[in-house]
Amino acid sequence: MNPISNPYMPAAGLPPSVLVGREALRERVRIGIARLREGRSAKSVLMVGLCGVGKTVLLQQMRSDAEGEGAYTLCIGNPEQRSLPALLAPQLRQVLLRLSQTEAAQDTARRALSALAGFTKALEGPFNGRLIDLNFDTEAAGLADQSQVEVGPTTLLEHACLAAKQAGSAVVLFIDEFHCIEATQLSGLIVVLHRCAQSRLPIIVVGAGLPQLRGRVGNAKAYAERLFDYPAIGPLSEVEAALAIVQPAAQDGVAFEAEAVDLIVEKTRGYPFFLQAWASHAWDAASTSPISLADVERAWTPAIVALDEHFFRAYFDRLTQTEKQYLRAMADLGPGPHRSGEIADRQGRRVQAVAPLRNGLIGKGLIWSPGHGDTAFTVPFFDEFMQRIMPCDDRRVVS
Ligand SMILES: Nc1ncnc2c1ncn2[C@@H]1O[C@H](COP(=O)(O)OP(=O)(O)OP(=O)(O)O)[C@@H](O)[C@H]1O
Ligand SMILES: [Mg+2]
Repeated sequence: MNPISNPYMPAAGLPPSVLVGREALRERVRIGIARLREGRSAKSVLMVGLCGVGKTVLLQQMRSDAEGEGAYTLCIGNPEQRSLPALLAPQLRQVLLRLSQTEAAQDTARRALSALAGFTKALEGPFNGRLIDLNFDTEAAGLADQSQVEVGPTTLLEHACLAAKQAGSAVVLFIDEFHCIEATQLSGLIVVLHRCAQSRLPIIVVGAGLPQLRGRVGNAKAYAERLFDYPAIGPLSEVEAALAIVQPAAQDGVAFEAEAVDLIVEKTRGYPFFLQAWASHAWDAASTSPISLADVERAWTPAIVALDEHFFRAYFDRLTQTEKQYLRAMADLGPGPHRSGEIADRQGRRVQAVAPLRNGLIGKGLIWSPGHGDTAFTVPFFDEFMQRIMPCDDRRVVS
C-alpha cells in the first residue's frame, strides 16, 4: 500500500487516527467534571498503565473532552523537568485571562493575574522555580496585595478555582508521567488539592503514569489515598484491538483478511503500541487490499526490528550493566510477574543483596511490584526483547 497514506501511528504520544475503547474512563472523568460544575465533590483520577498502553493519548483526548464541556484545563506533560508551579504559571495565566472575560469571575481573576505577575518573578533568578512547590503561599511571600481577596484561597491555583467556580465551571489539571513528580512537589500538590476539597473549590487532577505512582502518592501524605481513585488502563480487548487495526484502514477504503487481524490481536495481546507498529508494517508490506495473513507474517520481522530500535532500546539504554544482568535473569523466567526471590536465585544472589538494585529499577520505571515480594516488567514483552538483545548473557554476578 502507499506508505504516504499509512494510517497507523506507532509513536509515543501520537494520537491514533482512531482512538479505540476507553469510553468508561472518559465517561468517568466527564461525570467528575459535571459534578464539580454543580457544586458537588469529585475524586481525582490517577490512571495507571504499562508503557505504550495509551496513557498519553488518552489524557490528550480527555483534555479535549473537558475543554469541549467548558472546563478550564491545565496540562503538565513531563513533571520531572521543572517544579509544578513553574510548569503551570504560563497556563494559569491563559486560564485567568479567559476567566477575566467572564463577568462573575472578573474580579477574582484580575487579582490573581496581578499575583501571578509577582509570582512569575519569584520563579526566575536563583530559585529557577526549583524550590517552590504548589503550596506556595502568595500572601506570605508578599507577592501581591491580598487584602481584598476572599478569605480561603491562599495559592494561585486556588484563586483560579475560585474564579472558575464563580464562572460556573471547573478546573481540570492533567498530569502525564505522574510517577515522575518529585516528592516535595507531590506533597505540595496533595496539600492544595486537600484544601480545595475542603473549601469545595471545583478542581480535579486527571493523571496518568506507571503503576509505581500509587506507592509514591501513599508515601507523600497519609490522607492522599482518599483524594484519588486509581483506575487501570489495560491493553485493548480483542474486539477493541481488532477495531484499532481495521478502522484506520477502512477510512482509506482498505480491508484486512480476518485471519490477518486475528494474528496481530493474538500476538500483541491488545497492547496499542505494538498493534500500531505491526499494522503499520503490514500496510507497507501489502501491495493490494485486502491486507492478507501472508502480508502480516512478512511484516513481523521489520516490525520487531523497528520496535527494538525505537521502543525497547530507549529503556535499555538507561540501564547499567548490573541492571541489564538483573533484567536478563528476570527475562529467563518469562513475562512475569515473578517472585523477587526467584530472580535473585537465578543470579545466585540473596534477595536482600539485590534489593537496592531492584528499587533502582522501580525508580527508573523498568519494573514494578504488583504485590509484596513480586516483580514485573512495566514494558510489555520486555522479556522477549532482553533475550533478543542479550542472547547468551552470563547472568550470574559475583557479589
Ligand atoms: N485506544 C487506542 N486505540 C488505538 N491506538 C492507541 C490507543 N491508545 C494508544 N494508541 C497508540 O499506541 C501508542 C502508544 O500510546 P501512548 O504514547 O499514549 O502510550 P503511553 O502509555 O503514554 O506510553 P509511555 O508509557 O511510553 O508514555 C501510540 O502510537 C498511540 O497512537
Ligand atoms: Mg506516555
